[in-house]
Amino acid sequence: MPIKIKRGWELPDSAATSEDVFRSRRRLLKAAAAGPILLAAPGLLAGCDEAPSPSAQMAATGTSDAAGAADPSTSLYPVERNPRYVLDRDISPEDLATTYNNFYEFGSSKNIWKKAQDLPIRPWRVAITGMVETPMELDIDDLLGKMPLEERLYRHRCVEAWSMAVPWSGFPLKALVDLARPLGSAKYLKMVTFQNPEVAGGQKASWYPWPYVEGLTMAEATNELAFIATGLYGKPVPKQNGAPLRLAVPWKYGFKSVKSIVTFEFTDQRPRTFWEEIQASEYGFWANVNPNVPHPRWSQATERVLGQDQRLETQLYNGYGEFVAGLYAGLEGEKLFM
Ligand code: MTE
Repeated sequence: MPIKIKRGWELPDSAATSEDVFRSRRRLLKAAAAGPILLAAPGLLAGCDEAPSPSAQMAATGTSDAAGAADPSTSLYPVERNPRYVLDRDISPEDLATTYNNFYEFGSSKNIWKKAQDLPIRPWRVAITGMVETPMELDIDDLLGKMPLEERLYRHRCVEAWSMAVPWSGFPLKALVDLARPLGSAKYLKMVTFQNPEVAGGQKASWYPWPYVEGLTMAEATNELAFIATGLYGKPVPKQNGAPLRLAVPWKYGFKSVKSIVTFEFTDQRPRTFWEEIQASEYGFWANVNPNVPHPRWSQATERVLGQDQRLETQLYNGYGEFVAGLYAGLEGEKLFM
C-alpha cells in the first residue's frame, strides 16, 4: 500500500520555503489572506513560523543549554582556520544558517531550532563499534580532547536546491577513523543519530525509519574533506545544526551530513541510509552533487544561496572535484549522483 509521507524538503524548489518568506510569516499570512493560491502551496505555511525575535535569536546561536547549563566545550572555540579550504562566495549570515534547518527528528519544517533546544547534549556518549580492533565508547568531551580541532569554510548544498557557506569547527573524520583502528575488512562507515522520541517529537512519526542513518565508503570517510563538525561560527555547534557532533561532507547533498551522531560503526555491508530507505528511487547512497542529473522532481542545475536573491549555478561535486573526483573512478555503473 503506498504511504503518502509529507516531506517538506522534497518539494520542488519553486514550492519550498524560501528563507525570506520563512523570516516574515506575517507578510506571508497577509498575502495568503489575499488569495487562496498561496495557501495551497505545499509546505509553505506548514513549514513557517514567526521570524525569530532578537532574544529568540540569542537562544538560536547562544551557547547555553535549554536547562541553562553552559556547554563545557565553549572554551575550545574559536579554533584556528585552515586556509586550505576557501569559498567562492560570502559566508552565510549566522542567523539564517542557525534558524533555517533540516532536522526531521524535530519536525519536517525548516523552523525547528526552538524545538531542538530540548535535546540534551551532555552527557553524550559516542560508540565506535563493528569491525574495529577494540570497540569503544567515549564521552564527547574526552573525544574533543583527543581530536585536532580546526575551522574550515565549506559550502553546503541541500538536495532541495538551496545552499549556504559556513565556518564549521571540528576535526577530520580521518582522525576518528585512526583512533578507531578499523579492521582491513571494513568497507563502510555507518553513522547513526540519537533516538529519543521523548524530546524529538518527529521520531514519534512511525512512518520514518528512525534512527537517521548515513554512511560513507572507507575511501570517502578518510578523504581529507570529510569532517566532523563540533562547532559553527566559532562556537559549539547549535543543537539545531547537529550538536554535539555532525558530519560535513561538502561534495555531497546535505542529507548525507548526518547530525547528532551517537554511533560510528565500521562494516563490510553498505548501510541502507535513512532517505534511501524511504524513497530509493530519489535518494541513493552516493548523493554526489551534480547539476546535470536532476532530482526526479526538480532541476539541480542552480541553487538559491541563503540570504541572496540571485541563484548560482551548481557545480559538479559542489565545486570540490579536485579533492574527490578520484574517489569515483571506475564506479560509472553505479547510480552515483542521487
Ligand atoms: N541529520 C539528521 N539526523 N536528521 C535530519 O533530518 N537533515 C539533513 C542533514 N542531516 C537531517 C540530518 C539535511 S536534508 C540537510 S540539508 C542538513 O542536515 C541540514 O543541515 P543544517 O540544518 O545544519 O543546514
